[in-house]
Amino acid sequence: MDHYAVFGNPIKHSKSPFIHTLFATQTAQQMVYNAIEAPLDDFKGTLDVFFAGQGKGCNITVPFKEQAFKYAQQLTERATLAGAVNTLKLTDDGLIIGDNTDGAGLVLDLKNNHVTLKNARILLLGAGGAARGVCGPLLAEMPKQLVIANRTHSKAQTLAATFTPVGEITACKFEQLSGHFDLIINSTSASLDGKIPPISPDLIHPETAVYDMMYSAQATAFNSWAKEQGSRLVIDGLGMLVGQAAESFAIWRAIKPSAKQVLNELRHNLAL
Ligand code: ATR
Repeated sequence: MDHYAVFGNPIKHSKSPFIHTLFATQTAQQMVYNAIEAPLDDFKGTLDVFFAGQGKGCNITVPFKEQAFKYAQQLTERATLAGAVNTLKLTDDGLIIGDNTDGAGLVLDLKNNHVTLKNARILLLGAGGAARGVCGPLLAEMPKQLVIANRTHSKAQTLAATFTPVGEITACKFEQLSGHFDLIINSTSASLDGKIPPISPDLIHPETAVYDMMYSAQATAFNSWAKEQGSRLVIDGLGMLVGQAAESFAIWRAIKPSAKQVLNELRHNLAL
């Protein structure tokens, strides 16, 4: 039987085995999917063993996405742009291909929530790995403008410069942000500490959709704040998690599972 897995450290609380096992049932695929904790000093060795056995593909999570980028023998264009790999696939020819489905997962979830990206003015808060992973797929949707704002402004500038050949992207300081945004995405890790990036509440209009890449049983700090400022649509990152998984699954099995049922079950479990 074909084996799949997610590699990370720590990995105990990963929802990926639950998600992919449901996808496999949904699409009648004979496969197993496990969570594997790779030692911090031997990610490569752990992957070598996996692919020498029955491993056909895997997801990669914190802190190994950059190492997976180096491990891959061939990269997709979006993985090259993202500078990180969250999906590896072993081809029938024995080649290991690295891809990045994080941005596609975000775009899928935004579309499932009826958020229009074409011609939209989008603000992306943060300029770390999570932000970099989604810039390419967001720009591919042809927004009017993608503005990056980050606590360390130079990182926003570097990120904008990286993606300038791809689409309409600029960097801006938090305090200089102004005007109307159709969508504000929070990719910062500030939510982990219950903090929010220091942006003006005036940026939130009732029709501004807000997306926090983090998720939790209760509304995230950023989404609670945005709701208080009057945003009518706030979404958390649970759907992005399922979306990136659905994209990875399709790469391995050539069949696209439905995100909706799995997302409903995960949301239900989170509330327990
Ligand atoms: P990830 O892979 O999750 O993006 P990262 O690469 O460490 O993690 O990036 C974390 C992001 O959150 C960065 O953009 C960081 O801003 P800096 O580049 O200035 O460090 C941002 N961040 C973390 N804590 C923050 C806070 N309290 N307020 C605003 N931004 C914060």
